[in-house]
Amino acid sequence: MSDNDFLRVCALGDLPEGEAAAADVHGTSIVLVRRGEEVFALYDECSHAAVALSEGDVEDCTLECWLHGSMFDLRTGKPTGPPATAPVPTYPVEVRDGDVYLSLKPKTTES
Ligand code: FES
Repeated sequence: MSDNDFLRVCALGDLPEGEAAAADVHGTSIVLVRRGEEVFALYDECSHAAVALSEGDVEDCTLECWLHGSMFDLRTGKPTGPPATAPVPTYPVEVRDGDVYLSLKPKTTES
């Protein structure tokens, strides 16, 4: 993947530490979670009933859906707690010179 695939989303300092933040990246709804100098990006829609995961809570390396409590691993998008059974897409993120860049090509999730 070339550098050109990455789009600048925001400054790292714009993201609250340990909280979910919604972003629209070229028409795709993304939820960003900052943990220190690292940023995780997932598709901003729960795989259970299509509500925004950016309204949910972050705990350690998981994001909890506010509606029925499904837990998703920030690194893989895989559900770690029911009722969701399907993963949500995750996206590669790079932090360069204090700015957050994201590729809209989802990471492949091995099953
Ligand atoms: S909509 Fe997210 S757990 Fe049901």
